[in-house]
Amino acid sequence: MEPLLSAETIAARVGELGREIAHDYQGRDLVLVCSLKGAFVFTADLARAIGIPLRIEFIRAESYGDAMDSSGEVRIREVTDRALDGCDLLLVEDIVDTGRTATRLLEVLRAHKPASLKLASLLYKPSRQIVSVPVDYLGFTIGDEFVVGYGMDHAGWHRNLPYLGVVQRPSGPPTEARR
Ligand code: IMP
Ligand code: MG
Repeated sequence: MEPLLSAETIAARVGELGREIAHDYQGRDLVLVCSLKGAFVFTADLARAIGIPLRIEFIRAESYGDAMDSSGEVRIREVTDRALDGCDLLLVEDIVDTGRTATRLLEVLRAHKPASLKLASLLYKPSRQIVSVPVDYLGFTIGDEFVVGYGMDHAGWHRNLPYLGVVQRPSGPPTEARR
């Protein structure tokens, strides 16, 4: 597996994001909404890097199947049943690729009439964007490569890798990750 981002690099960035979020949400009713399954590791680390009281809820979208390219159709499979109305919701995503999933999840969450709604994503692939979605708290921008590890999978595998690796697509070499 070709490494893209080491566990140490990820941890340092997650720590920075945690401090920024804690500063911005001081005194608010912060609820992290973890996008299953891929964001479970990021959410666990981010939540512990945010040094203020918060709650964690879960939502699930599916668009991929086992392919490396989005099917285009996003199904929302679960949403937490605890009331989210009036809370400060921060959707936590692993990666914004075409932007369809995050857009759909934000729509579903907006219907809960939160006091505020923002998006945190560990990764963003601008080269693949189809729907524009602003990422309020972004870990890293990466190129057009399929990544696994740190919660992210290919056909269900590799979620437990502590670092981010690249699964080679048929075309082209991987590019450098950048902030
Ligand atoms: P989008 O709807 O195309 O933005 O895709 C978002 C979802 O697709 C992410 O939450 C991931 O679950 C999955 N995904 C997109 N790119 C990758 C990748 O490189 N590795 C693993 N999963 C990915
Ligand atoms: Mg996902």
